[in-house]
Amino acid sequence: MSETPNQPASPSRRDFFKMGGVLAAGAGVAVAGLTPAAAEAAINTAATLPYKHKTVARVKTMKVNQPVPFNYPDAASPCSAVKMGAPVPGGIGPDGDIVAYSIMCTHQGCPTVYDSNDRCFKCPCHYSIFDAEKGGQMVCGQAPTKLPQIVLEYDAKTDMIAAVAVNGLIFGRQANVL
Ligand code: FES
Repeated sequence: MSETPNQPASPSRRDFFKMGGVLAAGAGVAVAGLTPAAAEAAINTAATLPYKHKTVARVKTMKVNQPVPFNYPDAASPCSAVKMGAPVPGGIGPDGDIVAYSIMCTHQGCPTVYDSNDRCFKCPCHYSIFDAEKGGQMVCGQAPTKLPQIVLEYDAKTDMIAAVAVNGLIFGRQANVL
């Protein structure tokens, strides 16, 4: 295309890409300006808010090694709480032994089933196994990550446990709270 007199030349293709580079670099500086902790906090905040407080069960009604089903953070997310009978990492309640997980397998989303003999959640689709006593860690199988653990709170006055957040991404979601 030829230039006409008295009109500024339009930016060349090379200039266009240079401008793009400068803009991208500016954006990078803004992200890089955050400390790692602040960046992680910003990401976590975006991924975890706003969780609701949801009552799950009264502790004295829970039996050791028997799962209590519930849904969290919404009706499409099946979860299970288990009183393990001895303190476990992340366990809450008077004995520090109650944990809860999303039961959707992190491989392809099949609902896992709690096996009280092995104290594990087992996936019937491709046989991944997740350890309920070790934060939902995968023991074996094709799943890429542990089961998302439901963050619980215990109210000693009412003896109730409640779900308040999720640690880990529920299968099939880009954010846990939709
Ligand atoms: S869906 Fe659970 S192992 Fe494949």
